Amino acid sequence: MNRPLGITVIRHIVDSQRLHPEATGDLSGLLNELIVAGKTISAEVNMAGLADILGMSGKTNIQGEKVQKLDEFANNTIKKRMARCGYLCVMTSEEDDDIISVKEGYEGKYTLAFDPLDGSTNIDVNVNIGTIFSVHRRRSSGGQGCREDLLQKGRDQVAAGYILYGSSTMMVFTTGDGVHGFTLDPSVGEFYLSHPNIRTPERSKYLSVNEGNSRYWPENVRSFIDLLKEEDEEKKRPYSCRYIGSLVADFHRNLISGGIFLYPRDNKTAKKNYGKLRLLYEAAPLAMLIEQAGGRAITDDGIDILDIMPESLHQRVPLIIGSKLDVEEARGYLG
Ligand code: AHG
Ligand code: MN
Ligand code: MN
Repeated sequence: MNRPLGITVIRHIVDSQRLHPEATGDLSGLLNELIVAGKTISAEVNMAGLADILGMSGKTNIQGEKVQKLDEFANNTIKKRMARCGYLCVMTSEEDDDIISVKEGYEGKYTLAFDPLDGSTNIDVNVNIGTIFSVHRRRSSGGQGCREDLLQKGRDQVAAGYILYGSSTMMVFTTGDGVHGFTLDPSVGEFYLSHPNIRTPERSKYLSVNEGNSRYWPENVRSFIDLLKEEDEEKKRPYSCRYIGSLVADFHRNLISGGIFLYPRDNKTAKKNYGKLRLLYEAAPLAMLIEQAGGRAITDDGIDILDIMPESLHQRVPLIIGSKLDVEEARGYLG
């Protein structure tokens, strides 16, 4: 069967690099290593349900290897590969309390913040999950990087993206020249350009929020969300409600079709006084993507996510993200 000559993600990265004569190829190399990690995780995710069926116990499989929880597997896969890629000086992961150093002698000029597997509660029920990543240029001069290299504004990211393990495996990322989506052809093991220059619709089609928390939201947030449910011919409201509990999957659907996703702060537990989602490896990378695609990302105080100066690695932030007109309306209403 003669396959159409698809543009592979590597071809796309190299072509994008040509737009920047000063580029050294390091960012391209970094993304390439991340792609290999993503393919490795994708293969494991697609086998997840078989761990029990194939006689692999919860702890050790037939080869006597320790069967890792998928979160742990994804985290270790990324850490091991990226620690020796030669392009990073330091990393932070949702699964590691402290900063993660890179292999001595392999220090590079970028930093990586990542959520190895977003939507973990959905792993065992075969619902889409994903990996989210964010890249900054280091601030420190040389050698191993430090916490300050990671605590940078989202506005200063050099790249951001995610790999979505769903009905197909997709990689969506930006290096500041628009947002592009690639779909994995598992029979070839290549990601092909399937969604060039993604632009998110200006007006939403979907409302994504966990209504189960509504009693804990600030009053103004609750009434804004009620406003979205009122009839409005011109704004085509009420929107359909779509919320599957994997940020990366809810974000992707809304990016393509138009939508507004909200995870507001709530007063249920002290931990959620600033919402549940983390700034460095959930809100900031998705905020760069949505702004590159024409949308917006703000807190429930109306502040641009990309302008927040992080103070800690796992800092949480209330998140309202999606179609420009709806998020700006939220900013006006809540700000
Ligand atoms: P993670 O699995 O990386 O901890 O992220 C889960 C997050 C995010 O994916 C999702 O939007 C949110 O948790 C869902 O939270 P609720 O179940 O409280 O709605
Ligand atoms: Mn997550
Ligand atoms: Mn996670």
